[in-house]
Amino acid sequence: MGTSSVAIVTGAASGIGAQVCWALADRGLTVVVTDRDEAGGADLAAQLAAEGHGVEFAPLDVTDPRAHEALVDGVVAHHGRLDVAVNNAGVSGRVAPTGEYTVAEWREVLSIDLDGAFYGIRAQLPPMVEQGAGRIVTMASILGQVGFAGLPAYAAAKHGVVGLTKQVAQEYADAGIRANAVGPGFVDTPLLARPELPAEAVGLLEQLHPVGRLGTAEEVAGVVAWLCTDAPDFLTGAYLPVDGGYLSR
Ligand SMILES: NC(=O)c1ccc[n+]([C@@H]2O[C@H](COP(=O)([O-])OP(=O)(O)OC[C@H]3O[C@@H](n4cnc5c(N)ncnc54)[C@H](O)[C@@H]3O)[C@@H](O)[C@H]2O)c1
Repeated sequence: MGTSSVAIVTGAASGIGAQVCWALADRGLTVVVTDRDEAGGADLAAQLAAEGHGVEFAPLDVTDPRAHEALVDGVVAHHGRLDVAVNNAGVSGRVAPTGEYTVAEWREVLSIDLDGAFYGIRAQLPPMVEQGAGRIVTMASILGQVGFAGLPAYAAAKHGVVGLTKQVAQEYADAGIRANAVGPGFVDTPLLARPELPAEAVGLLEQLHPVGRLGTAEEVAGVVAWLCTDAPDFLTGAYLPVDGGYLSR
């Protein structure tokens, strides 16, 4: 990817997405920061711009397929290209066992975490196909590979994200597009700052990772940025854990 490359990041106002924006901007990409949190997204874009980075903010709720299309149309109209897309927006949903999940709770998580990734990729593919190049990264989770009691919709959605990413890798390899999923372990971001999660639960979560701590958003962002820029052309369709050894147990 050259320094004139353009990237879209979803769910970019906070946590991992925000750090992905910094990492891509540090590599010289122009970053389109998107989020449904307009104040947070605009604030991040202002911080990046103040450091001299090429950046703009566009509000985007990933559950709206037309909004993805309008966003990509605008990016291509303005920049003439779309090189990188990081489909990162996600929510974890209420902590409760499967039998106690309401249909509305299930739908909310699936619509953001899985449908949102599909709507994004569907809109991002056409300009990448036209260019004959593109790098797509999806934000899965360790729960894209294993279950975790109390997060049924999240685990189902993230397994779906991994499957979707493999599909894209297969279908668009000939078109020069590389698609990979990143699977963070538990990462210290606002996603984990939940009222129903007692302080001692964080200590238990830390112990689930052989490295004995939670991950940082910067650690995940570094891997994402590498996949978007310097990763080998031969790397596609992969699920890449960044999980302190969680899945090695
Ligand atoms: N934090 C973790 O432990 C962890 C672990 C594995 C995977 N992940 C994944 O990483 C991604 C980022 O999570 P995070 O920890 O940075 O969380 P976060 O809550 O800090 O950030 C998520 C961002 O997504 C945005 N968002 C939520 N719904 C949206 C929607 N409908 N449209 C657009 N934006 C929306 C939020 O406004 C927020 O800015 C998510 O996909 C999450 O599932 C997180």
